[in-house]
This record gives sequence, structure tokens and C-alpha cells, in this order.
Amino acid sequence: MKTLLKNCRLTNGMHNILIENDKIIYIQKVTMSRKLFKKKRRLESESDEIIDISGNHVIPGVIDPHVHVRDMEQSDKENWLSASKAALAGGVTTIFDMPNTLPPTTNLINLNLKRKAAEKSLVNYKFYLGATNENINEIEEILKTDPSDIAGIKVFLAASSSNEVIKDREILKSVFKVARDFDKVMVVHTELQELLDIWQKRLHYRNILKHNALRNRQCAIRGTKLVLDLAYEVRNKLYIAHISTAEEIDLIRAYKSSADIFCEVTPHHLLLNESVLNKAGNNGKVNPPLRSEKDNEALMEAVMDGTIDIVGTDHAPHKLSEKQQEYPKAPSGFPGLETGLHLLLNEVNKGNLTIGKLVELTSRNPAEIFNLANRGEIKVGNFADLTVIDMNMKWKIDSSKFKSKAKYSPFDGMEIQGKVIMTFVNGK
Ligand code: DOR
Ligand code: ZN
Repeated sequence: MKTLLKNCRLTNGMHNILIENDKIIYIQKVTMSRKLFKKKRRLESESDEIIDISGNHVIPGVIDPHVHVRDMEQSDKENWLSASKAALAGGVTTIFDMPNTLPPTTNLINLNLKRKAAEKSLVNYKFYLGATNENINEIEEILKTDPSDIAGIKVFLAASSSNEVIKDREILKSVFKVARDFDKVMVVHTELQELLDIWQKRLHYRNILKHNALRNRQCAIRGTKLVLDLAYEVRNKLYIAHISTAEEIDLIRAYKSSADIFCEVTPHHLLLNESVLNKAGNNGKVNPPLRSEKDNEALMEAVMDGTIDIVGTDHAPHKLSEKQQEYPKAPSGFPGLETGLHLLLNEVNKGNLTIGKLVELTSRNPAEIFNLANRGEIKVGNFADLTVIDMNMKWKIDSSKFKSKAKYSPFDGMEIQGKVIMTFVNGK
């Protein structure tokens, strides 16, 4: 089966893309030359299906390395079908699922349960193994079988939603060593539990407007410093999830040239700050918390200078009824798959980002850092994971229309220019 995508606007001009057996087999520049015109006619007659992209932008499908799909015992929050429909609507073709599920992805039995649940996914996927205080041997046993569906190892240094916390530096070090020995990316949520406990005792208010003060920036900064030091010592590949503060950026800059350090920002830490919480309430409750405008600026600068490698959404769906409880009870996190790329497209339209930089952050770097073969770039031989975008379309984020089961967002009502109109997923 051959499919021809006609008139695709790539970062280097207008092209026709020919797809066969899930892969891109030919890319032809659109010109007025008679010779190429004849060749185009031939391509068209050879193809079983022709789709006219009509000059819209085509970018590599987004690879989102930070997604909480839930499912299994939390399928009321989200399942693989609803999450992958949300991914398609957001131009995302590959998702990496976090291990803090019920049951958690911390041993082979639970991994196999997740593998079964994920069969209904409409997009490509991989899983993280969750490190706990006593499962290092199990992680090693799983990795020894060289499974192709494991993206890396995830560790939480603080409690967020149903996850185990590692507090002991020596245990953490052994986990980093396993990541190094099996050449897996070590992903860390760096807020530090012992500091969180101290701030919780120190401050007495309990209110969403104080979430940032309570889960104090120092908790994230100190944890980030700790894992940078450890990765420098162990020499493993470290990926710091959702950095939120200017101070962490300074630290990462200092270490990046001398160790294998990568980091991620979420669209919400990049574009929102705690000033939205008056309106968003608990729908903006997330860990790490939304910070300040100064942090937004520092994060954007770090995107531009390459300190930040990836934008991951941290899609973290919870039930609306759970989010509507009082602040201390409301779980942290909100859906992001349907807003992430759109928010970045809007930044491109505002002149704050180039489309080339966007592609680097959302597909090229994730494919390279997580060793995904034949993905992350539009080139012959790669899987045809492609996202078609109308850069001119103006619309408003309306969370009631989300494909995700979680129909709320701190971005609700925001005016956006740029919309995903088609998503092609291949090679599943
Ligand atoms: O806000 C968050 N929600 N942060 C996390 O680290 C976990 C996530 C979740 O799983 O809900
Ligand atoms: Zn997360």
C-alpha cells in the first residue's frame, strides 16, 4: 500500500511525501520543473491513496516522554484508548507512560499487566520502570531481557500522586548505576521529600494560592542539585523532569558540558505562573507547582539556548470531582496531551519560537535522547509519524471537548493560533 501526501510544507519548503509499509520511502521537492512534474505524475499513478495536504505545515509526530496514562485500577481517570485519542488530537504519535500507576510498574507481573492494557493504544508507546527502595534486582532482571518497550527508569524523590519515594542517597546511587549499566535514561522528579516536610511544618496556611510557597522552590532546587552531583559521579544519562525554577536552570547549565544531563520543561511551567491560580483554582494544582513570571522568562531563555532539551506535557489526568475537593485533598496534575503542541504553535505564531526549534524540542531531541530508531525526523527510511498543522487557524481551548477523560485545564479559554488537523501514526 502506497500513500502519497501531496504539497506538504516542511521546514525546508514544499514537498510530496511517499509512504509505503509505514515508512517514508521518497521525498520529492515541489518545483515547476517539467522533469519533476512528470515524475510527480508517475508517483501519483503509482500510489494507492493520495492525500492533498494543501500547503499546510507537516512536522514529525510529537514524542511526549512524560505521560500518565493511568488505566487498570484508575481507568476512571484515563485509559489507553482515551489517552491515545487525546494524543492524536494533540499531534502526538508516541507517548512514554509513567510508572506511578495502580498497580505500579515496579515488577515484571505489573509490567505485563500494563503491556496488556496498552494494547488498545492508538499511538506508539513505551513504559518507564519505577524504582523503589527494594526493587533494584527486579529492574535488573527485566532489563537483562533487553525489552524494546522500556524507555527508561523513573524515580520520585517526593510523593506526588501514588508513587513510592526514594530518600536514601545510596539506594538512589545503585539505581543510577543500573541505568548506566543498561544504557537507560534515568528520569527524576527532583522535589525532595524531607524539605517538603520541613516547609509543610513551617507554613500553616493550606490554600491553592500558597501551593508554590508550600512546595517551596528550594525543594526542587536542592533535589536537582543532588541528582546532578550523583549523575556526575556515576556517569549515567540523567533526564530531569519538569524543571520549574531559574535556579535549576543555572545548575543544569553548569553541569551540562561535563556530564550526560538532559532536561524537560512542561508547557505549563514555561507559559503559566501562580498568578493564574485565582481563576484556575485546583485545576492549576500541579507538582512541581506553577512558579513566577521570572521563572517563565528563565525557562524560555533556556529553551532558546539549548539548556532545555525537551518539552514534555506531564499529562496527569484526575477526575474533575477529585480536583473539586478542597485544596489539601485535590490531587495534583491536569491533562496536557491536547494542549501541549498547540501552545507551542501559538508561541511560534507570536514570534517567540521558530518551527525548527519546536521540532527539536518535541520530536528530534526526544528520539535522540531516548534512542528511538527511525523516528523524530522526516526523512527517507523513517516511520511516517507525521503531524499536519494549519498555522493560521484561530481557536479557543475548550476543555469540555477534550478526548481525555479529564475535561478541565488551567489553559481553558485561551486563544490559540495554529491547529493540528491530521496525525499519522505508523510502525506500531
Ligand atoms: O502534578 C503531578 N501529577 N506531578 C507528579 O509528579 C505526578 C502527577 C500525577 O501522577 O498525577
Ligand atoms: Zn509526571
